[in-house]
Amino acid sequence: MLIVLMGYMGCGKSSIGKELSENMQMPYIDLDDFIEEKEGKTVQEIFKTRGELFFRKLETKSLKELLSLYKNAVVSLGGGTPCYGNNLQIIHQYTAHDFYLKANIDTLTARLLSEKSHRPLIKEIKDEEIPEFIRKHLFERNFYYMKANHMITVDDKTKTEIALEIQEKLS
Ligand code: S3P
Repeated sequence: MLIVLMGYMGCGKSSIGKELSENMQMPYIDLDDFIEEKEGKTVQEIFKTRGELFFRKLETKSLKELLSLYKNAVVSLGGGTPCYGNNLQIIHQYTAHDFYLKANIDTLTARLLSEKSHRPLIKEIKDEEIPEFIRKHLFERNFYYMKANHMITVDDKTKTEIALEIQEKLS
């Protein structure tokens, strides 16, 4: 089974994905890590040296490669992955077990303020402008996230509770 987790930066894709993969005894793969390993550069470096457009092309190529390589895994995407090109179509070619981890603006703001520095899309934004940036960005991206086959709200829940909720939806 191929399980795909999507959602905005800071919604918990990686930590929930790891817990879920342990519960289900499946490999865990993070698309950003997969890209970083292939390129020998961090996502942050790729954004800085090659720009976002280059990253988005690489992201689509890597998504196809990853999904065709693994038949049984928990995969967490980058926050923007489902929102570009035909990435959503690609995801749905490989699986119907895709989940949108939905977090509200307050949850995302609190989490992203403390880890802004290594996120290329928000590192230059002033702290006080972060909530408004997230609000607008999430409004645009929700259109894509809402096309996931499943949605789980994550606010005020532990990663253990969320992983179990995903497992219940799959059973
Ligand atoms: C991005 C999210 C990041 C990473 C890149 C772009 C986005 O992944 O792919 O910085 O467009 O939202 P995380 O959501 O894992 O931080």
